[in-house]
Amino acid sequence: MPYTLNVNGASTTVDVPADTPLLWVIRDVLDLKGTKFGCGIGLCGACTVHVRGRAVRSCQTPVSAVADAPITTLEGLSADGSHALQLAWQEIDVPQCGYCQAGQIMSAAALLSTTPQPTDADIDRAMNGNLCRCGTYRRIREAIHAAAAMPARRPTLETARVSAAPATTTGGLRASER
Ligand code: FES
Ligand code: FES
Repeated sequence: MPYTLNVNGASTTVDVPADTPLLWVIRDVLDLKGTKFGCGIGLCGACTVHVRGRAVRSCQTPVSAVADAPITTLEGLSADGSHALQLAWQEIDVPQCGYCQAGQIMSAAALLSTTPQPTDADIDRAMNGNLCRCGTYRRIREAIHAAAAMPARRPTLETARVSAAPATTTGGLRASER
């Protein structure tokens, strides 16, 4: 069945069964590989994207539930990798293997959009469902604080509601981590 999706500011129609997880639409139909498959059962957070600005697990979200809703993936966080979190992630060199990091950044971005100056407790609560087998939690927390402290965040695709084709930036992840 055809569904019209609004992904990273661009409207696109996909023809998939109603119960297709948004994760597979993003990765396999739209070819946006920043969003990762981890557990597939809503427990790891690797697949986190934003729907209406809120962090959701795309592996647990049927495409039929998000038609016409604004969806943001890692590629849509900024046009050029200039989101404060992307800069902070690079500055602090957060990733180890990198696999969980797209989901971590998306959950962190959702947190900062509602809580611009989060406490450690705010961060721990918001990031609780994002697992990192490499144990980068301390650097993740440090990077979120660093991003929150950046004086002038440049507008993001999400906040500026820029209508554009999906970008190709990958959240500051190394090529080996994509
Ligand atoms: S892949 Fe979706 S929560 Fe793990
Ligand atoms: S950096 Fe390896 S799983 Fe998080």
